[in-house]
Amino acid sequence: MRIGIVGATGYGGAELLRLLNNHPEAKNIQLYTSTKEGVHIEESYPHVATIYDTSLKPFNPEVVGEDSDLVFMATPPGVSAQHTQEIASHGTQVIDLSGDLRITDPTIYETWYKRPAAQIETINQAVYGLSEWNREAIQSARIISNPGCYPTAALLGLAPLIHNDAIQQHSIIIDAKTGTSGAGRSATMMTHFSEMNENFKIYQVNTHKHTPEIEQQLHQWNNESGAITFQPHLVPMIRGIMATMYVQLKKPLTSEQLFSLYHQAYDGKPFVRIRKENNYPATKEVYGSNYCDIGLSYDERTGRVTVVSVIDNMVKGAAGQAIQNMNLMNGWDESMGLNLVPVYP
Ligand SMILES: NC(=O)c1ccc[n+]([C@@H]2O[C@H](COP(=O)([O-])OP(=O)(O)OC[C@H]3O[C@@H](n4cnc5c(N)ncnc54)[C@H](OP(=O)(O)O)[C@@H]3O)[C@@H](O)[C@H]2O)c1
Repeated sequence: MRIGIVGATGYGGAELLRLLNNHPEAKNIQLYTSTKEGVHIEESYPHVATIYDTSLKPFNPEVVGEDSDLVFMATPPGVSAQHTQEIASHGTQVIDLSGDLRITDPTIYETWYKRPAAQIETINQAVYGLSEWNREAIQSARIISNPGCYPTAALLGLAPLIHNDAIQQHSIIIDAKTGTSGAGRSATMMTHFSEMNENFKIYQVNTHKHTPEIEQQLHQWNNESGAITFQPHLVPMIRGIMATMYVQLKKPLTSEQLFSLYHQAYDGKPFVRIRKENNYPATKEVYGSNYCDIGLSYDERTGRVTVVSVIDNMVKGAAGQAIQNMNLMNGWDESMGLNLVPVYP
């Protein structure tokens, strides 16, 4: 398969390069840039220089569409909104890692992203690539909107309860933490070492753009589901997301019933692992892998369930899930190229 990576010099691009090296169908990979035409990838990423002995090509959507069977857009907001339709018009599959095509209502996108939405035709063609829950639509899609990192952790954690109509409306609180690679490669005042190390910050309180993405999917699963409280935090680590979620149940469940809902949903799904009772996942336990690990506890005193969901933001939260979706779109084994044991310690 001829694969194009737009944004290859960013963190999402780098992770695609790492993972695609293990993928038997990905042998012809072109790297595209908007600023470093002709520069060898070694200049950005010496760690893959001998594996990808190639220079960056200028990003021209027409040429990228013509020269690729599948394109990963690992670009900031705004780029896919503008160029996906042209790339896809060549019959090319597009997997967009940015948030440009995830929100189905352009007005909601514009409110949260504070930029013009993509054309509605493009948005309508894009299938939300939450691999475990949208498999059939992904299999026949030509354009995938790959889920955000926080939404992946949160939605995988909440799905079994929402599907079983077990949660009281408006009771969902998502308390999430991320490492700094989630913000991409460019340093900012928020993420540079002196600001972030030995520090623990809450940011974008009640305004993070992943909020409507999570609400949209929860509502599609259960139309009683409305607004959620989602608060993101930055912790001094490089990779990893932990979403700790608190939900009030409609009626009491035994622990056995709770675990049974999750096993019914995820047994047989290779990348979601449900921990045993009293065992909770840590980010290090999925580091570098495509796993989402989920721990559960029901508190009889409060009637609340606590769900703990961890992923590696660069893998299941970005490049890994994108490759999982590429596999589904092309009728390959879902795990192809993704059999990665987490790096520990
Ligand atoms: N990091 C994560 O954990 C994560 C997780 C899920 C989703 N995402 C999403 O994935 C996307 C990429 O994230 P990232 O972390 O890889 O960001 P990043 O490190 O900032 O990389 C983005 C890359 O996009 C390229 N680019 C910028 N403007 C462009 C344009 N106008 N046309 C074409 N290419 C352009 C840049 O490369 P050149 O200068 O070489 O063009 C840059 O290296 C973002 O939308 C992000 O929200 C990231």
